[in-house]
Amino acid sequence: METKDKEVLLRVEQLCQYFKLGKSELKAVNKVSFNIYKGEVFGLVGESGCGKTTTGRSIIKLYESTGGNVYFKDQRICAGNRLYKDAIAAAKEDCADTVRGYEAEIKEETAKNPANEATIKEKYHRLISEKREETSKIIKENRVAIKEARDDQRNCDKKYSARRVAELKAEYEPIFANATPDKLPEIKKEYNKKLHIAKRERLVTQIQMIFQDPIASLNPRMTVETIVSEGLIIKGVRDKAYIQEKVYEALEQVGLVREHATRYPHEFSGGQRQRIGIARSIIMRPDLIIADEPISALDVSIQAQVINLLNDLRSQLGLTIMFIAHDLSVVKYFSDRIGVMYYGNLVELTSSDELFKHPFHPYTRSLLSAIPSPDPIYEKKRKRITYNPLVDHDYSKEQPTLREVLPGHFVLCNTAEMEEYRRIAAEKDLIQKAE
Ligand SMILES: Nc1ncnc2c1ncn2[C@@H]1O[C@H](COP(=O)(O)OP(=O)(O)OP(=O)(O)O)[C@@H](O)[C@H]1O
Ligand SMILES: [Mg+2]
Repeated sequence: METKDKEVLLRVEQLCQYFKLGKSELKAVNKVSFNIYKGEVFGLVGESGCGKTTTGRSIIKLYESTGGNVYFKDQRICAGNRLYKDAIAAAKEDCADTVRGYEAEIKEETAKNPANEATIKEKYHRLISEKREETSKIIKENRVAIKEARDDQRNCDKKYSARRVAELKAEYEPIFANATPDKLPEIKKEYNKKLHIAKRERLVTQIQMIFQDPIASLNPRMTVETIVSEGLIIKGVRDKAYIQEKVYEALEQVGLVREHATRYPHEFSGGQRQRIGIARSIIMRPDLIIADEPISALDVSIQAQVINLLNDLRSQLGLTIMFIAHDLSVVKYFSDRIGVMYYGNLVELTSSDELFKHPFHPYTRSLLSAIPSPDPIYEKKRKRITYNPLVDHDYSKEQPTLREVLPGHFVLCNTAEMEEYRRIAAEKDLIQKAE
């Protein structure tokens, strides 16, 4: 299926997460954009410290994002102000520069032509007031955007639940109108039950994160039952028997048994602890799971089991998964599409097959060259490519932006690089055809 036909579940748009670092700022995530389609596994790859966890944490609103937007089910859930504030600052600066320029021109022209001073001044004062007007329009628009962003950031859940309630009302209106009197009480009961749920529906709980470190993310003083049921309790579920049943169900879904419920995290192996983390997230019936390097702390033999488990759950529960990893070998088989991050930037984004067929960005190529091969002859020849941004790019003339180099294949590059990448791809495809 073409990506354009698929339903976008999560839309990340120019997401920025900056941390204060003394007087300067660390751009842990810098204007990152990608979509995650319903039902897919989206891999996010990059070396340690490139901003993968921060991207995930920003999406689930553990941080207030600095700039950009995140939309989940078409509702904006994260909205930062920085880009609007930058636009205001840039407009003010541009206005001041322009006015200074005009004033200099007034001086110059009147010095040359003192008799025309009044006309010259009139002309430039008109230009100045036009520029000021234009600037104040930009400022006003961005201030409105800031206000809307603050409102969405705070009230996204309320807005979403209001939308769900309205949808439900619209759905039931014709049903009520056509119902026979004997059926009406039953339909009303069903409607009220659904309404009760819709009013309490929270968007953010529909995205769950499995944390990088299974030991640190499980409270050692809580039993497995308490850990796994926490989300339900926060959501307002009170029925103890129901909660217990849900906990058992979740434990069994991740390959544990109900007897594990009364035990404590230290009594489990690494792989089992990660399963507890997965049970904790799926009990909320999420639509999206952000799995943050869920297997990097595990033995190789256990890694495959956890991947298989996630894959099974994906089809059983209709999950969409954002899978974070630091190398490509893990995500290669598991992901439908892959995004490659380098120092806070998304440098390449495309389907798994395409990424391995046409890796364009030199950083992606360096990641690929790090994957060991089971073929000893190939492995002997394998050369590791090291990426050096200062040597590998020339951005003196034009800065890079994320561009669609081939259909559905995005690379952070400038025009010259894009042309080069397209040429390389055409050549490679020709050679392959000839073979
Ligand atoms: N709360 C924070 N305050 C300040 N800096 C932070 C914070 N969280 C992360 N950082 C910094 O942001 C950058 C990105 O960190 P992040 O944890 O997102 O990387 P990562 O890609 O998940 O790395 P790893 O593969 O090691 O988990 C790092 O330089 C990190 O030191
Ligand atoms: Mg991380």
